[in-house]
Amino acid sequence: MKKIIIANWKSNKSTSEAQNWVDTFLSAVNQEALEQKNVILLPSFVQLTAVSHKIKETTLALGMQDISPFPSGSYTGAVSAHNVLGEHIEYVLVGHSERRFHFSETDEHVFKKIVQVIDSGMIPIVCVDEPYLESQAVTIDSYLHNKLIVAYEPIAAIGSGDRVSVGKVEEIKELVYKHFGKVPFIYGGSVEENSIAEYLIVCDGVLVGTASLDAHQFAAVVNSAKV
Ligand code: PGA
Repeated sequence: MKKIIIANWKSNKSTSEAQNWVDTFLSAVNQEALEQKNVILLPSFVQLTAVSHKIKETTLALGMQDISPFPSGSYTGAVSAHNVLGEHIEYVLVGHSERRFHFSETDEHVFKKIVQVIDSGMIPIVCVDEPYLESQAVTIDSYLHNKLIVAYEPIAAIGSGDRVSVGKVEEIKELVYKHFGKVPFIYGGSVEENSIAEYLIVCDGVLVGTASLDAHQFAAVVNSAKV
Protein backbone atom coordinates (compact mmCIF):
# COMPACT_ATOMS: atom_id res chain seq x y z
CA MET A 1 0.00 0.00 0.00
CA LYS A 2 1.29 3.47 -0.88
CA LYS A 3 1.80 5.86 2.03
CA ILE A 4 -1.13 8.27 2.40
CA ILE A 5 -0.53 12.03 2.65
CA ILE A 6 -3.64 14.14 3.16
CA ALA A 7 -3.93 17.92 2.73
CA ASN A 8 -6.78 19.16 4.92
CA TRP A 9 -7.48 22.77 3.95
CA LYS A 10 -10.31 23.16 6.48
CA SER A 11 -12.29 26.40 5.88
CA ASN A 12 -9.46 28.11 4.00
CA LYS A 13 -9.18 29.16 0.33
CA SER A 14 -11.47 30.66 -2.27
CA THR A 15 -12.05 28.72 -5.50
CA SER A 16 -9.36 30.64 -7.41
CA GLU A 17 -6.90 30.16 -4.55
CA ALA A 18 -7.63 26.43 -4.58
CA GLN A 19 -7.09 26.25 -8.35
CA ASN A 20 -3.83 28.20 -8.12
CA TRP A 21 -2.69 25.94 -5.29
CA VAL A 22 -3.01 22.87 -7.55
CA ASP A 23 -0.97 24.52 -10.34
CA THR A 24 1.75 25.68 -7.95
CA PHE A 25 1.90 22.35 -6.15
CA LEU A 26 2.19 20.33 -9.36
CA SER A 27 5.05 22.48 -10.61
CA ALA A 28 6.88 22.36 -7.25
CA VAL A 29 6.50 18.70 -6.33
CA ASN A 30 8.93 16.01 -7.45
CA GLN A 31 6.88 13.81 -9.83
CA GLU A 32 8.52 10.60 -8.69
CA ALA A 33 7.95 11.44 -5.02
CA LEU A 34 4.32 12.23 -5.82
CA GLU A 35 3.64 9.02 -7.71
CA GLN A 36 5.08 6.88 -4.91
CA LYS A 37 2.39 8.13 -2.54
CA ASN A 38 -1.35 8.43 -2.32
CA VAL A 39 -1.78 12.20 -1.98
CA ILE A 40 -5.34 13.23 -1.14
CA LEU A 41 -6.72 16.79 -1.20
CA LEU A 42 -9.58 17.80 1.09
CA PRO A 43 -10.92 21.18 -0.11
CA SER A 44 -14.10 22.74 1.26
CA PHE A 45 -17.40 21.56 -0.26
CA VAL A 46 -17.52 24.67 -2.44
CA GLN A 47 -14.24 23.88 -4.19
CA LEU A 48 -14.81 20.17 -4.80
CA THR A 49 -15.96 20.54 -8.40
CA ALA A 50 -13.20 22.97 -9.37
CA VAL A 51 -10.48 20.89 -7.72
CA SER A 52 -11.89 17.65 -9.13
CA HIS A 53 -11.67 19.16 -12.62
CA LYS A 54 -8.13 20.48 -12.00
CA ILE A 55 -6.66 17.16 -10.83
CA LYS A 56 -8.40 14.97 -13.43
CA GLU A 57 -5.21 14.11 -15.33
CA THR A 58 -3.00 13.75 -12.23
CA THR A 59 -2.36 11.08 -9.59
CA LEU A 60 -3.89 13.30 -6.89
CA ALA A 61 -7.02 11.97 -5.18
CA LEU A 62 -9.97 13.91 -3.82
CA GLY A 63 -11.83 13.74 -0.53
CA MET A 64 -14.34 15.66 1.57
CA GLN A 65 -13.78 17.07 5.06
CA ASP A 66 -17.23 16.02 6.21
CA ILE A 67 -20.56 14.64 4.97
CA SER A 68 -24.21 14.67 5.97
CA PRO A 69 -25.23 11.86 8.32
CA PHE A 70 -28.38 11.53 6.17
CA PRO A 71 -29.07 10.44 2.60
CA SER A 72 -30.38 13.00 0.08
CA GLY A 73 -33.65 14.60 1.16
CA SER A 74 -35.04 17.41 3.31
CA TYR A 75 -31.95 18.28 5.32
CA THR A 76 -31.38 21.98 4.65
CA GLY A 77 -27.72 22.98 4.53
CA ALA A 78 -26.36 19.44 4.58
CA VAL A 79 -24.15 18.02 1.83
CA SER A 80 -25.08 14.42 1.09
CA ALA A 81 -23.13 11.73 -0.70
CA HIS A 82 -25.66 12.05 -3.53
CA ASN A 83 -24.87 15.78 -3.94
CA VAL A 84 -21.29 14.97 -4.90
CA LEU A 85 -21.93 12.10 -7.30
CA GLY A 86 -19.73 12.43 -10.37
CA GLU A 87 -17.04 14.52 -8.63
CA HIS A 88 -14.67 11.52 -8.38
CA ILE A 89 -14.48 11.71 -4.59
CA GLU A 90 -12.83 8.66 -3.05
CA TYR A 91 -12.43 9.57 0.64
CA VAL A 92 -14.40 11.33 3.36
CA LEU A 93 -12.96 12.58 6.65
CA VAL A 94 -15.37 12.00 9.53
CA GLY A 95 -15.29 12.96 13.18
CA HIS A 96 -12.43 15.46 13.09
CA SER A 97 -11.95 16.94 16.58
CA GLU A 98 -12.88 20.39 15.22
CA ARG A 99 -16.26 18.94 14.15
CA ARG A 100 -16.70 17.35 17.56
CA PHE A 101 -15.71 20.55 19.42
CA HIS A 102 -17.27 23.34 17.34
CA PHE A 103 -20.28 21.43 15.95
CA SER A 104 -21.06 19.10 18.86
CA GLU A 105 -20.58 16.00 16.77
CA THR A 106 -20.92 12.74 18.69
CA ASP A 107 -19.75 9.16 18.14
CA GLU A 108 -23.30 8.38 16.96
CA HIS A 109 -23.21 11.16 14.31
CA VAL A 110 -19.85 9.88 13.15
CA PHE A 111 -21.23 6.35 12.81
CA LYS A 112 -24.16 7.61 10.68
CA LYS A 113 -21.75 9.49 8.44
CA ILE A 114 -19.58 6.40 8.05
CA VAL A 115 -22.63 4.45 6.87
CA GLN A 116 -23.40 7.14 4.25
CA VAL A 117 -19.80 7.11 3.04
CA ILE A 118 -19.57 3.34 2.73
CA ASP A 119 -23.01 3.00 1.13
CA SER A 120 -21.86 5.47 -1.51
CA GLY A 121 -18.71 3.52 -2.33
CA MET A 122 -16.28 5.95 -0.73
CA ILE A 123 -13.72 5.30 2.03
CA PRO A 124 -14.20 6.86 5.48
CA ILE A 125 -11.21 8.26 7.32
CA VAL A 126 -12.37 8.32 10.92
CA CYS A 127 -10.53 10.57 13.37
CA VAL A 128 -10.00 9.48 16.96
CA ASP A 129 -8.19 10.68 20.05
CA GLU A 130 -7.60 8.76 23.28
CA PRO A 131 -10.68 9.98 25.22
CA TYR A 132 -13.09 8.64 22.58
CA LEU A 133 -11.10 6.04 20.68
CA GLU A 134 -12.79 3.09 22.35
CA SER A 135 -16.30 4.59 22.52
CA GLN A 136 -16.08 5.49 18.83
CA ALA A 137 -14.97 1.97 17.93
CA VAL A 138 -17.87 0.31 19.76
CA THR A 139 -20.36 2.74 18.19
CA ILE A 140 -19.40 1.53 14.71
CA ASP A 141 -20.77 -1.91 13.76
CA SER A 142 -17.76 -4.19 13.86
CA TYR A 143 -18.38 -5.60 10.37
CA LEU A 144 -17.60 -2.10 9.04
CA HIS A 145 -14.25 -1.76 10.81
CA ASN A 146 -12.25 -3.25 7.95
CA LYS A 147 -13.64 -0.61 5.59
CA LEU A 148 -12.11 2.27 7.57
CA ILE A 149 -8.91 4.24 7.62
CA VAL A 150 -8.31 5.39 11.21
CA ALA A 151 -6.54 8.69 11.91
CA TYR A 152 -5.03 9.40 15.33
CA GLU A 153 -5.66 13.10 15.84
CA PRO A 154 -4.55 14.19 19.32
CA ILE A 155 -6.38 17.47 19.94
CA ALA A 156 -3.46 19.23 21.65
CA ALA A 157 -1.22 18.57 18.65
CA ILE A 158 -3.57 20.03 16.03
CA GLY A 159 -2.50 23.41 14.73
CA SER A 160 -0.27 23.95 17.78
CA GLY A 161 3.17 22.97 16.49
CA ASP A 162 3.27 20.62 19.47
CA ARG A 163 3.26 17.22 17.77
CA VAL A 164 3.25 14.02 19.79
CA SER A 165 6.23 11.65 19.87
CA VAL A 166 6.55 8.78 17.45
CA GLY A 167 6.57 6.44 20.45
CA LYS A 168 3.17 7.74 21.51
CA VAL A 169 1.82 7.28 17.99
CA GLU A 170 3.02 3.66 18.03
CA GLU A 171 1.30 3.13 21.37
CA ILE A 172 -1.99 4.46 19.96
CA LYS A 173 -1.58 2.33 16.85
CA GLU A 174 -1.67 -0.77 19.06
CA LEU A 175 -4.83 0.55 20.73
CA VAL A 176 -6.42 1.19 17.35
CA TYR A 177 -5.53 -2.33 16.17
CA LYS A 178 -7.06 -3.72 19.37
CA HIS A 179 -10.38 -1.92 18.91
CA PHE A 180 -10.71 -1.65 15.12
CA GLY A 181 -8.57 -4.52 13.88
CA LYS A 182 -5.53 -4.06 11.63
CA VAL A 183 -6.84 -1.07 9.65
CA PRO A 184 -4.72 1.47 7.77
CA PHE A 185 -3.53 3.85 10.49
CA ILE A 186 -2.46 7.47 9.98
CA TYR A 187 -1.37 10.33 12.26
CA GLY A 188 -2.31 14.02 12.16
CA GLY A 189 -1.10 16.89 14.33
CA SER A 190 1.48 19.54 13.33
CA VAL A 191 3.21 17.32 10.76
CA GLU A 192 5.53 19.24 8.44
CA GLU A 193 8.45 18.57 6.10
CA ASN A 194 11.00 17.99 8.85
CA SER A 195 8.90 15.46 10.77
CA ILE A 196 6.94 13.51 8.16
CA ALA A 197 9.63 10.88 7.54
CA GLU A 198 9.74 9.69 11.15
CA TYR A 199 5.95 9.28 11.32
CA LEU A 200 5.83 7.34 8.07
CA ILE A 201 8.11 4.72 9.63
CA VAL A 202 5.35 3.76 12.10
CA CYS A 203 2.19 4.87 10.22
CA ASP A 204 0.50 4.23 6.90
CA GLY A 205 0.20 7.95 6.35
CA VAL A 206 -0.26 11.45 7.75
CA LEU A 207 -2.91 14.14 7.79
CA VAL A 208 -1.50 17.62 7.28
CA GLY A 209 -3.40 20.82 8.08
CA THR A 210 -1.33 23.99 8.49
CA ALA A 211 1.59 22.77 6.37
CA SER A 212 -0.76 21.97 3.49
CA LEU A 213 -2.10 25.50 3.04
CA ASP A 214 0.89 26.78 1.12
CA ALA A 215 1.48 24.77 -2.08
CA HIS A 216 5.28 25.07 -1.90
CA GLN A 217 5.31 23.97 1.71
CA PHE A 218 3.09 20.97 0.97
CA ALA A 219 5.27 20.04 -2.02
CA ALA A 220 8.23 20.04 0.39
CA VAL A 221 6.27 17.75 2.73
CA VAL A 222 5.60 15.26 -0.10
CA ASN A 223 9.16 15.53 -1.41
CA SER A 224 10.71 14.79 1.97
CA ALA A 225 8.47 11.82 2.79
CA LYS A 226 10.42 8.59 2.48
CA VAL A 227 8.49 5.55 1.27
P1 PGA B 1 -2.30 20.60 11.67
O1 PGA B 1 -3.75 19.99 11.43
O2 PGA B 1 -1.36 19.94 10.70
O3 PGA B 1 -2.47 22.07 11.43
O4 PGA B 1 -1.94 20.29 13.08
C1 PGA B 1 -3.86 18.60 11.38
C2 PGA B 1 -5.29 18.15 11.42
O5 PGA B 1 -6.21 18.91 11.67
O6 PGA B 1 -5.47 16.98 11.21
